[in-house]
Amino acid sequence: LNAILLAMTGMEPETWVARLKALDPDRDVRAWPEVGNPQEIAYAMAWKPEPGALDGLSNLKAVFSLGAGVDALLAIDGLPDVPLVRVVDPDLTMRMSEYVVLNVLLHHRHMLRALDDQRARRWEPRDQPAASSVRVGILGLGELGLDAARKLTMMGFQVAGWSRSAKQRHGIATYFGEVGLKQMLGRTDILVVLLPLTPATTGIIDTVLLRGLARDGALGGPVLINAGRGGLQNEADVLAALDDGTLLAASLDVFVTEPLPESSPFWTHPKVIVTPHVGADSDPEALARYLMGQVHRFEAGEGLTNVVDRTAGY
Ligand SMILES: NC(=O)c1ccc[n+]([C@@H]2O[C@H](COP(=O)([O-])OP(=O)(O)OC[C@H]3O[C@@H](n4cnc5c(N)ncnc54)[C@H](OP(=O)(O)O)[C@@H]3O)[C@@H](O)[C@H]2O)c1
Repeated sequence: LNAILLAMTGMEPETWVARLKALDPDRDVRAWPEVGNPQEIAYAMAWKPEPGALDGLSNLKAVFSLGAGVDALLAIDGLPDVPLVRVVDPDLTMRMSEYVVLNVLLHHRHMLRALDDQRARRWEPRDQPAASSVRVGILGLGELGLDAARKLTMMGFQVAGWSRSAKQRHGIATYFGEVGLKQMLGRTDILVVLLPLTPATTGIIDTVLLRGLARDGALGGPVLINAGRGGLQNEADVLAALDDGTLLAASLDVFVTEPLPESSPFWTHPKVIVTPHVGADSDPEALARYLMGQVHRFEAGEGLTNVVDRTAGY
């Protein structure tokens, strides 16, 4: 009665069965569609499950997302009404901070222009502003946003962060709510987006938001870095902002439609760096240890951690 059902697409279920069994050899681990007796399934571990894959599991105790973002799972019609647990893993967090620091530095040091200069055999040293003169604003000051904020602070950037609830974090200027958002944008040269995709955040990166960014910064214009979810950005607005100079440049790891369609103007836009949703891949071994750790602690009566607030949507 404590079997695990893996319901995933785009990942190899057999490898995952082996990975979980290696950590708990006596555990009954099944991969959809080989559900067997559905009453024996206590836990579902899911990543973009096939429609109906989680139906009829009458003794289900929890659903575990195999990713940090749960927007796709929450969008499932009839998602079982049991606790939904998301991934919080230091390995994943570290990788996201790498992505953020890499892209902040890249724009801070004008690498797009430097590569252009190189291709044109143009030796043109330009001003390199100090990190301490550059203001980074992070939308989303959760597990990922806070770690990135700390690392950027260590590098000398002036870092601020925006969240839903009020927070105090040493060395980071914090903002919350609508008024806080406006205030933070007005002091932001590089905007890093690490929000979850929820009804409240869908399409938040639009013309109004982008026009609220600081125009008096050391970089010569504001920069957008989105590694949250594609649905956070209005892509027509982002393109217009790049073309009319509202934005100096952008790094986009996530898109409304993934894979990014071949016809997307982002692919060849000279001011854009496109990566294929690799901001923070999960190390499967670390993820498996995290998931089995949650199951074991739950069965020892310690409860689940990182449970999603379904009303808030993250
Ligand atoms: N590109 C990739 O490869 C990749 C990999 C992993 C994750 N992600 C994305 O990154 C997102 C963030 O992950 P996380 O682990 O940092 O999530 P988290 O710990 O839940 O943090 C989310 C942050 O966003 C804030 N927030 C949520 N709704 C808001 C709203 N309406 N207004 C203002 N702030 C709001 C939260 O505010 P409070 O602190 O007040 O709750 C919190 O600070 C995930 O949801 C996922 O979509 C992307």
